[in-house]
Amino acid sequence: MLSKKVKLGIMPESERSHALTYGSRFTAEAVPKYEIPDESMPANVAYQIVHDELNLDGNPALNLASFVTTWMEPEAEKLMVETLGKNYIDQDEYPQTTEIQNRCVNMLAHLYHAPETHTAVGTGTVGSSEAIHLAGLALKWNWRKRRRAEGKPADKPNLVMGHNVQVCWEKFARYFEVEPRYVPLSPIRYVLGVKEALEMVDENTIAVVGILGSTYTGEYEPIEELNDALVSLNEKTGWDVPIHVDAASGGFVAPFSSPNLQWDFRLPLIRSINVSGHKYGLVHPGVGWVIWRSEAELPEELIFHVNYLGGDQPTFNLNFSRGAHQIIAQYYNLLRLGREGYSRIMNNLQLNARYITERLQETGQFDMLSKQGELPVVTFALKDTGRLTVFDLSGQLRQRGWIVPAYTMAPNAQDIAVLRVVVREGFSRDMADMLLADIFRIVANSQKAPPAESQPAAAEKTRGVC
Ligand SMILES: Cc1ncc(COP(=O)(O)O)c(C=O)c1O
Repeated sequence: MLSKKVKLGIMPESERSHALTYGSRFTAEAVPKYEIPDESMPANVAYQIVHDELNLDGNPALNLASFVTTWMEPEAEKLMVETLGKNYIDQDEYPQTTEIQNRCVNMLAHLYHAPETHTAVGTGTVGSSEAIHLAGLALKWNWRKRRRAEGKPADKPNLVMGHNVQVCWEKFARYFEVEPRYVPLSPIRYVLGVKEALEMVDENTIAVVGILGSTYTGEYEPIEELNDALVSLNEKTGWDVPIHVDAASGGFVAPFSSPNLQWDFRLPLIRSINVSGHKYGLVHPGVGWVIWRSEAELPEELIFHVNYLGGDQPTFNLNFSRGAHQIIAQYYNLLRLGREGYSRIMNNLQLNARYITERLQETGQFDMLSKQGELPVVTFALKDTGRLTVFDLSGQLRQRGWIVPAYTMAPNAQDIAVLRVVVREGFSRDMADMLLADIFRIVANSQKAPPAESQPAAAEKTRGVC
């Protein structure tokens, strides 16, 4: 059979170049950065430009600075992608999403032993920061109501907390005009001291904060001891100073790793608890939770009822719209993992944190600041900083891709500079071995160099790191 050559129609230049990602003119021109461009560009080109730029970000899997989840199961991610278009606040339109958030609140209230004699309440938030702002507001309102009922001035609220609190507590105090009273650390105590905290409490104290898993060292604050001491102080003075537990990280660790530890609603003064679903709740960012022991702890004036999406919607949140997919993913995890799954994962994280700690300790070159069996975090300092500081070590690890922050401790332990490795889901023993090999190589190389004359000043604070 004889075939004829067919004459092709001329394809316009723009169409021909649009088909090719790196053949398009857009990949040979400067990218608009500060003004919306006048003309559109093909989707494949726009995708590639943004994708390529993001290659300069750190690799989330090697980001050992963060407590935030970087790995989820493909089924969870599928559900998240399927629900990206759902707005969490549209309760009338997405009733099952609302039902799912209600179930999460219930599961957490049970996990934290909310007493059967009360009706616990709670809400999903963007993270622990929003949860803490809501809890703080409820504490402030309750304190003010009490003071007014007693005919006393209610214009000088204060909040007592360790100097190791995360920055969101400083924000709460400033934004909502509450005097922050920081309990200093000491060179041998990196969490709240109960005696020191109680010395700062007075009739204007809206609450004392106990942290279940300090951002600095992963250490649990002595919450049971704080509860008992505050019960006695309240009895003696007639005050009613409660405790809020910031369980941003520990709220999904302690119930599985240390089920007998008393830190939650089993203790009478714990009025509210926050937890980050996107930390050891094992959900991609951003989801958090706040649970109140009883609905009586939540002043009615703080709850807004809106009806413009149909039906009555009670809400207590700082924002209105937000993605529903993280809440749905939280429910997936609770359902999929159950207590068994969370316990197994937390156990592995604890084993890997212990392994790193022991290998570092064996060398005799490091001081360990984190404790075993609390958050799976390894915080350590270099014993000899003559040739290498933790800041140098952090910088050199970064060249290999590892992101391990170096920072100084909070006042009055600020002379101690440390490195912190957060062991998260996705960080296996094999990864731990590779990280250790890199640390040991950098330290060994530094010992061949002459000692530095002076050490660079510590720059980074950890309060902004989460
Ligand atoms: C103890 C503590 N509280 C609160 C936060 C803030 O949490 P989020 O990032 O979920 O807002 C963090 C973050 O690391 C934290 O460690």
